[in-house]
Amino acid sequence: MSDFWNQKFSSADYFYGDQPNDFLRSQIFRLKPGARVLVVGDGEGRNGVWLAEQGFKVTSIDYSSVGCEKSRKLAAQRGVSLTTECADLLSWAWPVAEFDAVVSIFLHFLPDDRLLIHRAIEAALAPEGWLVIELFHPKQLGYSSGGPKNRDMLLSPDELEADFPALDWWLITEGCTRLTEGRGHAGMGYISHAVGQKPAQAER
Ligand SMILES: C[S@@+](CC[C@H](N)C(=O)[O-])C[C@H]1O[C@@H](n2cnc3c(N)ncnc32)[C@H](O)[C@@H]1O
Repeated sequence: MSDFWNQKFSSADYFYGDQPNDFLRSQIFRLKPGARVLVVGDGEGRNGVWLAEQGFKVTSIDYSSVGCEKSRKLAAQRGVSLTTECADLLSWAWPVAEFDAVVSIFLHFLPDDRLLIHRAIEAALAPEGWLVIELFHPKQLGYSSGGPKNRDMLLSPDELEADFPALDWWLITEGCTRLTEGRGHAGMGYISHAVGQKPAQAER
């Protein structure tokens, strides 16, 4: 599957643009200065590089070698540094309780893999760590602005909540929005998004 993404990222431009996702931008006020942020499925780095520009200590991971290379190039152009890992999240040695935030933007899997990844994200959060997540809702099948065409890879807020049993939810919702994210996400779309926080003490 990384070949699929290498192909999508093969032209000189940035497939999802070089600006951060709007929801991520709106939620970042929650993080403390210098927070350690893991960006999963970061593609060509638009979100990870922007977070590094905000002064966070960013680890960006994606299994597309082309995406990782473009992330490094974008970081160099913007004069910031971040750690880029080119690895498959399904076999990555996930750190435990190490990040003050995990950012997951339009990272879609089939259900079994999704649950593995989402549980690993939850475990990677330090106490009081934040999850910022946005992805396409099943209603996106009625739109042509991007995303997988398989219902099983799309997520409602209820399904999202169930994947992260240890988190407290500050915001979890769905809605129609205009996407202006490069060639990859363009036009009206229907998304689920959420902000969750790990409790200070492991309660569950
Ligand atoms: C729809 S793109 C979103 C990219 C980025 N989050 C953004 O919003 O610009 C999904 C990304 O997830 C990555 N990805 C999918 N499955 C992965 C896996 N198992 N391990 C690592 N990366 C993966 C792809 O390579 C691709 O870059």
